[in-house]
Amino acid sequence: EKGGHKHFMAKEIAEQPTVLADALAHYLNDGAITLPETTPDFAEVDRIVMVACGTAYYACATAKYWFEQLAGIPVEVDVASEYRYRDAPVGPKTLAIFVSQSGETADTLAALRHVATRARIVSVVNVPESSIARESDLALPIFAGAEIGVASTKAFTCQLLVLLLLALKAGRDRGRVTDEAMAGHMASLSSLPGLMAQALAASERIEETSVKLAEAQDILFLGRGSMFPLALEGALKLKEISYIHAEGYASGELKHGPIALIDRSVPVIVFAPRTALFDKTVSNMQEVMARGGKVVLVTDRLGAVEASEGCWQVIEMPTVPELIAPVLYAIPAQLLAYHTAVAKGTDVDQPRNLAKSVTVE
Ligand code: F6R
Repeated sequence: EKGGHKHFMAKEIAEQPTVLADALAHYLNDGAITLPETTPDFAEVDRIVMVACGTAYYACATAKYWFEQLAGIPVEVDVASEYRYRDAPVGPKTLAIFVSQSGETADTLAALRHVATRARIVSVVNVPESSIARESDLALPIFAGAEIGVASTKAFTCQLLVLLLLALKAGRDRGRVTDEAMAGHMASLSSLPGLMAQALAASERIEETSVKLAEAQDILFLGRGSMFPLALEGALKLKEISYIHAEGYASGELKHGPIALIDRSVPVIVFAPRTALFDKTVSNMQEVMARGGKVVLVTDRLGAVEASEGCWQVIEMPTVPELIAPVLYAIPAQLLAYHTAVAKGTDVDQPRNLAKSVTVE
């Protein structure tokens, strides 16, 4: 049942090229995005509120960058346990998006009910029969298949994919994404499964790094732009299954506090594809190295050529279009957590104190 893998988590990480191709096949037809007819017309939406817990929340935090960039819609993202007790104003043109793998998370469901009479509700779920799916105006399945490992992996990347498709539709509805740009984005999307398979090839290299990370007490994750939510997700994944204390920060926040933690014993994992923001991240990385911090740079070929000097470890990813980079870089984030946990000998699929579906508050 684990398909030759040692853990469900390993199987589910490895499945991502296939499940993403599957999800794409469900939502693309003749090179065009085909969402249900009841999908909102984003020309009529003036604000989006996205609500979820844990990893699903980080998928929302990533999608915020996409909705803003592609569609120019203001987006607010909140954790469900806060949103459900807030008096967050909701306007007549507010769209509320709830993201949940299980579709049964108590706080997310309560947050949905909190706005259900006031806003249009779209949910992004893995279980189409779930409570959250049933109580939504529209439920979009992510087609990840059953996820058994407690730490979410393939559901995260499938959530990202469906949210990206929604953001692209929003950009079209609002006349901000041209035909030509759309053709480019479509090409990026179709290249995604193949690129994910290439990213998986870094597994052995990541394992070597993880054996060393397993000795650390504290690990920091840094990223800028859409790599910032991924830094948070990488830290969460590592904490959950390896029990090593980890924190994710926006690279630019480093000097506002966390840099005080840096010394020889603190590895700092930096997600930085060679994009427009690369140089900024590299200068943050150099601040870390100047204080003896051990940098693990996760980047592409060009990034490795330009910035490997002084790094403790460099993990190379295939070169990807910027738009889909957060989906691809999820793989090294997951593999770093996985191999570190295996090196520590923890119960990877059933980490202590955690449940797969959190149906109580
Ligand atoms: C992390 C993880 C959790 C869930 C969270 C929400 O690896 O699995 O943080 O993402 O409990 O669960 P769902 O998506 O089922 O609402």
